[in-house]
Formats: sequence, C-alpha cells, structure tokens
Amino acid sequence: MSAKVIAVVNQKGGAGKSTLAMLLAGSLAEEGASVLLADADPQNTACRWATAGQGFPARVEDLSGEEGKLHKHLKKRIEAFDYIVIDSPPAASAPITLSALRLAHLALVPVIPSPLDLWASLRIREAIEAARVKNPGLIARIVVNQAQLNTVLAREVLALLPEFGIPTLAAQLKQRTAYRQCAALGSTVNALGSRAAIASLEVDALRREVQMLLRK
Ligand SMILES: Nc1ncnc2c1ncn2[C@@H]1O[C@H](COP(=O)(O)OP(=O)(O)OP(=O)(O)O)[C@@H](O)[C@H]1O
Ligand SMILES: [Mg+2]
Repeated sequence: MSAKVIAVVNQKGGAGKSTLAMLLAGSLAEEGASVLLADADPQNTACRWATAGQGFPARVEDLSGEEGKLHKHLKKRIEAFDYIVIDSPPAASAPITLSALRLAHLALVPVIPSPLDLWASLRIREAIEAARVKNPGLIARIVVNQAQLNTVLAREVLALLPEFGIPTLAAQLKQRTAYRQCAALGSTVNALGSRAAIASLEVDALRREVQMLLRK
C-alpha cells in the first residue's frame, strides 16, 4: 500500500478547501479506505471539525507545524494509508502549501463561481506549475464549490473556467446547508442520513471521479 496524496489548495480564503477536504476524506474512509487528513492550516478547521462530534472516520492530525517539511513527514508515513488528504492554508506561496504540492498526486482547487474568487485563485495556478518542476506527475483539477447554477453570473463565470488553465471536475458541490451542518456536528455527509440524501450523492460522485483520476 502506498497512499495516493490529494492536496486541496487555493490562495483564496473561504473557497471551501476545508469543506472539500473533509467531505472527501470522510467519504473515502466510509468506503473502507484508511485515510489521513493532514491539517496543514494553522487555523485548524479540519481538526476542529473532526473533534466537534464523535468518530469522524478519517484520522485527522494537525501537521501545520511541519511547514516546508510536510512532504518529508508524510513520505515517511505513505505506506500506512490508502489516501492522504491535505487541507492547506489560504496562501499559495506558503512553504507548507508548496511542500504539499511537491508530494501530491492530485491538487484540487475549490473555486466559488464569482469573478472575484476566480481572480484571487490565479496565484495557485502558478504554484502548481512551479511544483511540477520537481513533481511532474502532479494532476490538477478545479472543483466548482457553492455553485448556484440558476444565476446568469454563475453561468458566465463557469464559462470562463476553461481559460483558467486547469481542467474542471465534472462533479461539483452546490451550496447546501448540509455541508455546514457536517462541520458543526463533526460528521460526514452520510452521517446526516436521509435529510442530506442529495448532498450524499453529490459527494459520492465527487469521490468516484477523484478515485478514477487516481486509478485506485
Ligand atoms: N458547498 C457549500 N455549501 C454551503 N456552505 C459551504 C460550502 N462550502 C463551504 N461552505 C462554507 O463556507 C465557509 C468557508 O468554507 P471553508 O472553511 O471550507 O473554506 P476554506 O477555503 O477552507 O477557508 P480558509 O481559506 O479560511 O481555510 C464555511 O462556513 C463553510 O461551511
Ligand atoms: Mg480552511
């Protein structure tokens, strides 16, 4: 076993990095995979989420103190997990973000479809390109988050995404109260039961697309 490493990154604060990382890690773990969620953000959102309830299925650890040595730390533990998901701080050129991108097989960039968010996300593309010098196999995908596809503006912004230079996942996360509830309750989306059935399907589709990209 050698873990597939997924880094969730974006320069933009509040784009949904922690939400995407936790939903994905929870979903992979519920499928039976052994999953480490490396919380690389000193805000420790992921750690707070995991301890807000009882029994989050992935192992969540505060590794924000590793800074530029995160990849070295995780490399030593790569045989112990099926997946390592890294939640990073909103800083594209922070040593810990660059360290995460150096080890990752897949970089996921959550983007809220609004012009301001898209502009603020441009810096992460440069960080991903720089990481490919030492990590040429790094795959990158945009994940549309908090989508409200019924608005003209959101559709116009989505039409701009191909120009961003990073392909977009087909699966999206819509704006849903269920995702906020998960964070408050410290749970996965499946744990919310039938009240979050559509959200569960959305996260399943995202997990499957990610697994296909990583061929695992
Ligand atoms: N798809 C969604 N539907 C509803 N609320 C969402 C969704 N995605 C994120 N949020 C909410 O938006 C806020 C920001 O999300 P989150 O903390 O995941 O972003 P972040 O990129 O990790 O932020 P930071 O840059 O501060 O680390 C949170 O309140 C979260 O609950
Ligand atoms: Mg966060």
